[in-house]
Amino acid sequence: MYTSAVSRSLWVSSLLLVLAACSDAEAPAPVSTPSPAIHDDGRGAEPNDGERAQAARERRDAGGVDAEVSVESDGVQVTFPDAIGPLDPGAAPRGLDGTDARTCRPCHTEIYREWRRSLHRQSWTDPMFQAGYRRSPHLPCRRCHAPLEESDAAPADDSLAADEGVSCAVCHVRDGHVFGPEAAGAEDHASVASSAMATGAACAPCHQFNFPGPDDMPGAVFDPHEPMQNTVEEWRRSEFADTPCQTCHMPLRTDGEGRRYRSHEMRARRNPELMRQALDVDVQAVRRGAEVIVRLTLRPGVVGHAVPTGDMFRALEVDVFPEGQPQRRQRRELTRHFGPRLAFRDGEPSILVRQRRDERVGGSAGEPEALVFRLRTRRSKVRYVIRHLAMPRADAARDGVPIGHVVTPMVAGNVRVRPQ
Ligand code: HEC
Ligand code: HEC
Ligand code: HEC
Ligand code: HEC
Ligand code: HEC
Repeated sequence: MYTSAVSRSLWVSSLLLVLAACSDAEAPAPVSTPSPAIHDDGRGAEPNDGERAQAARERRDAGGVDAEVSVESDGVQVTFPDAIGPLDPGAAPRGLDGTDARTCRPCHTEIYREWRRSLHRQSWTDPMFQAGYRRSPHLPCRRCHAPLEESDAAPADDSLAADEGVSCAVCHVRDGHVFGPEAAGAEDHASVASSAMATGAACAPCHQFNFPGPDDMPGAVFDPHEPMQNTVEEWRRSEFADTPCQTCHMPLRTDGEGRRYRSHEMRARRNPELMRQALDVDVQAVRRGAEVIVRLTLRPGVVGHAVPTGDMFRALEVDVFPEGQPQRRQRRELTRHFGPRLAFRDGEPSILVRQRRDERVGGSAGEPEALVFRLRTRRSKVRYVIRHLAMPRADAARDGVPIGHVVTPMVAGNVRVRPQ
């Protein structure tokens, strides 16, 4: 707890308040452990994505996944933002009037609608990003969260860069060409096939990166060799390394006219089903005199990386309490912990902040995370509630981020206390 508090305060240049007492998000109904299948959300069946995954695997093996992706196809290169350079989609592809999302809307209505509500679209305007950015307003943040901004300044509130965030063009358009997995739509616009679009390579440039160093960010305190987000590496080590990110985050759906398409909602913590399946929970409660010993073991469920993954402030919050007595809860928080280390920069000693410990489920190799709680109670059942925290509750309260944005229920249930 202490090391993590130190790093947060360094990162956001302010002191972390001690754990806040807080408004509880509503606990979900108990659920059984997830089945080892990738479920669809019912809008379009995707039995197991078998052939597609196989094809994508072959393509991925051929293409590889790199942190700074340049995809070359028909002599045209797509370079995703590498957190340093600006991103210019270039001229409008033949057949199209522009590269902004409104240009795509008439023909890709459903995708447009989903993207409009997604966090990709809101990557600059999202209140949680804005809260983080107010504390740490640096160029690398703008490159990823407002990649269309060509200057080094923050995008104006009414600019396209602010409004569209990670836009269609950011992922699909370069130099007069639309890049997609199959080059479909060639009658309507100049299309180029890029098999990497169906693999983790399409996500890696923004979802796998190290902390910016002092050259890119004045006053940087984190070790620039340390991953700030490690999602793609976690995926490579996970049991779902053969399943592309798209299978889980862009499932096939059917639109009003019966056409199949890849969802662009980028479902994640706002999708309850996905969240329920993410964890495999085993809970044992045994009476020992006046105490009940609760042993809670967490393993990754249907998930292709650590839980939680992504932003460094994500955490799992685990509450255990005698049934009907939530006020007597004991709480643990599982997250990445960072702390200062002595290092040498150009021969000069300096303090760099690095990861010390990773408590996230599936975060580090080895034994699953087992948590032990001791409750003094005579009740015959105990209840557990597990939530995803997008940022620490205390930080959210301080920054005025609505708690509903921050807390997502995952799994909860009751267990009977066994006699000794
Ligand atoms: C005049 C209609 C029209 C407009 C405007 C349009 N598209 Fe398309 N596009 C199509 C059709 C038709 C297809 C093929 C069917 C499909 O995949 O939906 C297609 C296919 C695609 C594909 C898939 C390519 C592949 O490899 O399979 C992508 C990606 C794409 N469009 C992106 C865009 C983007 C980005 C814009 C806006 C900058 C845009 N389109 C504007 C009609 C259009
Ligand atoms: C974060 C990157 C990203 C953004 C933003 C994005 N796309 Fe895509 N899109 C992809 C990827 C990756 C695929 C390929 C998925 C696959 O086949 O596995 C894809 C596939 C498509 C396809 C063709 C495949 C299909 O099955 O429908 C179309 C059309 C398309 N996108 C249009 C758009 C439009 C229009 C927008 C903006 C409203 C948009 N995309 C925004 C990454 C993105
Ligand atoms: C150009 C950079 C970029 C690319 C490429 C990109 N992302 Fe993202 N993604 C972001 C940013 C930035 C956010 C965070 C937006 C925010 O909340 O501020 C994000 C957020 C997300 C989220 C969280 C959504 C939620 O509701 O919590 C998911 C899931 C996601 N991306 C999946 C993907 C996948 C899968 C791919 C590849 C197909 C991909 N992204 C490609 C930049 C990118
Ligand atoms: C087997 C399914 C599966 C695969 C494969 C998968 N994910 Fe996820 N992803 C999930 C689930 C479940 C969650 C919600 C739990 C969590 O945060 O870990 C999630 C959450 C996320 C989030 C949201 C984190 C947040 O803080 O809201 C991002 C970003 C993300 N995934 C990106 C990726 C990328 C990039 C890849 C590929 C390199 C990928 N995922 C592969 C299932 C998957
Ligand atoms: C290389 C790309 C990249 C850079 C650089 C980057 N981010 Fe992000 N950021 C992302 C991605 C991708 C996500 C989504 C991961 C997730 O959902 O957990 C994200 C998520 C976030 C979130 C959580 C948003 C939400 O809705 O939950 C905050 C806050 C944030 N970033 C702040 C920053 C700040 C401040 C900086 C600069 C110091 C920064 N980011 C630099 C890619 C980047």
